[in-house]
Amino acid sequence: MTSIIEPKLHKATDLLLKGEVVAIPTETVYGLAASIESNEGLKKIFALKERPFFDPLIVHVANFKQAATLTTDWLPLADYLARVFWPGPFTIVLPKASHVDPLITSGLDTVAIRYPAHPLAQELIHLVGPLAAPSANMFGHTSPTQPKHVQSEFPGANLLIVDGGTCEVGVESTVVSIDAEHVRILRPGAVTEEMIQAALRKWSHPVAVSRGSSQASPGSLKHHYMPKIPLVIVEPQKTASLAAELRLRIQNETGKPAQNAVELKLNDDPAIAARELYSEMRKISESGADCIYVVNRSDRQGMWSAIWDRLSRAATLDLTDAHSKSPQ
Ligand code: TXA
Ligand code: MG
Repeated sequence: MTSIIEPKLHKATDLLLKGEVVAIPTETVYGLAASIESNEGLKKIFALKERPFFDPLIVHVANFKQAATLTTDWLPLADYLARVFWPGPFTIVLPKASHVDPLITSGLDTVAIRYPAHPLAQELIHLVGPLAAPSANMFGHTSPTQPKHVQSEFPGANLLIVDGGTCEVGVESTVVSIDAEHVRILRPGAVTEEMIQAALRKWSHPVAVSRGSSQASPGSLKHHYMPKIPLVIVEPQKTASLAAELRLRIQNETGKPAQNAVELKLNDDPAIAARELYSEMRKISESGADCIYVVNRSDRQGMWSAIWDRLSRAATLDLTDAHSKSPQ
């Protein structure tokens, strides 16, 4: 069995309507999609990804009406922010409507909703209806940003992958939970805290924006987005004695010394750094290297926030001064 990559949508539409799973492009990362109407299809997503049932899925829509039907409370503030940031990398968590399958929401009373910007994703949703889709990778691994990455995540699967090219954004959407007075950023992404604050300055009431980690958001688990070989974050001044230190620290951590550590270089432009992040991690993992290291940067503003969030969760070790021991 092998996966098929194709750009046309008729086969994908048929499969989705029959309760099968299809890999689809979005502007952030590739998703593993099933119709929200198919309990069988939803179960297949969890089985293929080996994803625990406690990790809820995002529902992807292609218009505002679809979004509003998924929640009991399409809040004016949610509507306002959706009109600013949709279609785009922005996911809103709101109270769930009763018809939404509890498998999607892991039994929670909230549902995560996103209107993706990729034209092929939109077209498929128009043809099939709302699609539940996590990133198209094995649970805990690095997300795919190209069709061939999806293929390498599920080498034995008979999976149709809709080819939408390389994902423009490169890291997963910003996830926020919203009530009348608060916006909590559960996962940072390309819609940055600064962009949300700027949008809220034009809103009629004061709204507090905070960074909240939700236990219901395993994308915010400490170890997530991990490449196949250890990733280590280092301080710039320590790179001189780095090889010896990495050998020892990786030996302590994994039982095997790192003999061939390769640097993951981040582009100075955070939009490009984000777009390249996961594919560079994959490239280095497949190059024969046995360790990836990335040099710390103090700038965590804007889009850097999402990049460093993913890097610190992907890291086996953080050797920066702020984290001089391994993550718990
Ligand atoms: O950009 C993206 O968001 C991609 C593309 C495919 O759309 N999807 C994605 O899905 O990253 P996934 O499943 O890998 O991550 C979804 C995140 C998880 O951290 C999940 O816990 C959180 O959203 N989430 C989903 N429903 C939630 C809910 N009701 N409350 C809190 N967090 C929720
Ligand atoms: Mg994921």
